[in-house]
Amino acid sequence: MNTNLSSSAPSQLETDCLVVVVLDPSEKDRAEKDQPAPSVECADPAVREAAKDVMASGEVTGKTFETTLLHRPSGLKAKRLLLLGGGKAKTFSAAELRQLAGTAVRTLKGKSIRSFAFALPENGIAATEGVRAIVEGAFVGNFDPGYYKSDRNDKDKDQKIDAVTIVVPKEVQSDTKPLESSMQAARIVAESQNFTRDLTNEPSNRMTPTILAERAKTMAAEVGLKCEVHDGDKIRQLKMGAFWGVAQGSDEAPALIVLRYEPEGAAKDVHLGLVGKGVTFDSGGISIKPADGMEKMKYDMAGAATMIGVMRAIALLKPKVKVTAIICATENMPSGKAQKPGDVQIAMSGKSIEIINTDAEGRLILADGLCYARQLGCTHLVDAATLTGAVVVALGYVNAGIFASDDPLYERFAKATQQAGEKMWRLPLDDEYKEIIKSNIADMVNSGGRWGGAISAAMFLKEFAEDTPWIHLDIAGTAWMEEQKPWIAKGPSGVALRSLVEFVKGWSA
Ligand code: BES
Ligand code: MN
Ligand code: ZN
Repeated sequence: MNTNLSSSAPSQLETDCLVVVVLDPSEKDRAEKDQPAPSVECADPAVREAAKDVMASGEVTGKTFETTLLHRPSGLKAKRLLLLGGGKAKTFSAAELRQLAGTAVRTLKGKSIRSFAFALPENGIAATEGVRAIVEGAFVGNFDPGYYKSDRNDKDKDQKIDAVTIVVPKEVQSDTKPLESSMQAARIVAESQNFTRDLTNEPSNRMTPTILAERAKTMAAEVGLKCEVHDGDKIRQLKMGAFWGVAQGSDEAPALIVLRYEPEGAAKDVHLGLVGKGVTFDSGGISIKPADGMEKMKYDMAGAATMIGVMRAIALLKPKVKVTAIICATENMPSGKAQKPGDVQIAMSGKSIEIINTDAEGRLILADGLCYARQLGCTHLVDAATLTGAVVVALGYVNAGIFASDDPLYERFAKATQQAGEKMWRLPLDDEYKEIIKSNIADMVNSGGRWGGAISAAMFLKEFAEDTPWIHLDIAGTAWMEEQKPWIAKGPSGVALRSLVEFVKGWSA
C-alpha cells in the first residue's frame, strides 16, 4: 500500500473518497460553545458545507465506528465523502484514530474502492502522532487472512486498498519533513506487524520450526541482520534439557533461531534480549488437549513471530541499541519418544524440573531461551508467549498480561504500550506464589495447576531470568482476534509488536 502526504485543502483533493472524522462533543462544549450537534473534524468550510444536510438530519451521531457515505458531495473534488464516527471528543486520542483508519480501510475496500484520502482531525493530536496512527491503522486494517482461498489471486475479489493519502493542511504543519519521517517509520512498524501476522496465520503443516527459521533467515538477509539457526544437536550440546524435553516428542526438527542487531554507536552497557515462544503446534503432548479448538494451537508460535517482526522493524528503523532475539521453535507432540508426566528434565541453567503436565511446554522452552539470552550477555530481557489459558480467564481478549521483575523496566514498557495504542495489564509476582511450583523431587514443577495459572507460569520463568531485569508478556488471549472488529480482521493480531518496537527505540543512545 502506498502512503502519501498532501497539504492541499481537503475539498480540493481529487480522490475516490475523502474520509473525515465526526466527534461527539462533550456536555460542556454543548452548553458553552453552543455546539449541540456532533462536529465534523475538518477546518475546510467546503467539507463542512458538504456534510451539512446529513448532519442536520440527525442521522450522524459520531458514535465510534459509525460510517456514513455520501456520493458526489457538492463542492468537493472527491467522488465520495465518508463520515467516520470517532466517539466522544473528550477522550479521542491517537489510539482511537488508529482504529478509525483501520475502519476506513475495511469499510472502503469492501466496496471495491482502491484508494482514499484521510483528513487528519484537528483536535489536539500532534500532527506527527496523527500521521503515525493513521498509517499504522490503515496497514493493520488492510490485512486479511484468507491466504488459501482459491480466488485469492482473482483481481476483482482480492480487495485491498492500494493507496492512502493523509491530508494535513499547510496551516497545521508547514514543515512536512517530520511528517514524512513519521509516515515512513509508521510504515515500517505496520508492515512488520503484518509480517508477524503472516507468520502466525500459517497452519502448522506450512509453518514448521524449520520453515519459521527459513522465514527468519530470508527476512534477516533482506534487512541486514545476522541470523543463526541451531538444530537439535546444538540444543542438546547447549544442555537445553527443558527445550529438548519438549522437542524430543516430535518428528519435526526443532530450531533455535538467533537474530542479532548490533549497530555502531550503541550504548555499551545495554543489550536487550527478546525471547519468543515458537511452538508451531501445541497438541499438549502426552497430556493431550481436547479436540475442540485444538486447531487454534497453530498460533502457539505468535510470540516467536512477534519477536521476528520486531527485529525486522528494528533493523530498518536503526535505533542505536544492541538487540538479540532468541526464538525457541518446536512442536509439542505425543509420540513414543515424547516426555511423560513425572519425567524430570535438567534445564540449561542446571535447575531440575519435574514435568507434571506436558501441556505446560511453553515455559520449558522459554526457560532455556531466557538462560541462553543471559549467557549471550543480555542485560534486559523481554519474552512474549501465548503461555496460558489462565491469562484469558483473567483478562479476556482485551488486555495482554504483563509481568515485570523490575519496576523501572515496567514503567518504560508501560509508556511504550500507551504510545503504541496496545492494551496490557500488569499481574503480580509476589514471592508467596513460589509455593505453587514447589516439587517433591526436583527444584520445581512445570505446572502449578489451575489457580493463578498465568502467575505460576510467570513465576516459573522468573527462576530462569534470575537477577536480570525481565518482562514477560502473556499474549494467549490477544494474539488471535476471535471475532473481526471494524478495524481488524478475525485472525492473527500482531499484538505487542508495536509496543516492543517503541520500547526498544526508547533505549537508543
Ligand atoms: N499454548 C497453551 C496456552 C494457550 C491457551 C494459548 C489458549 C492460546 C490460547 C499452553 O502451552 C498451555 O497449554 N497451557 C496450559 C498450561 C497448564 C497445563 C498448566 C493451559 O493454559 O491450560
Ligand atoms: Mn501447551
Ligand atoms: Zn503452548
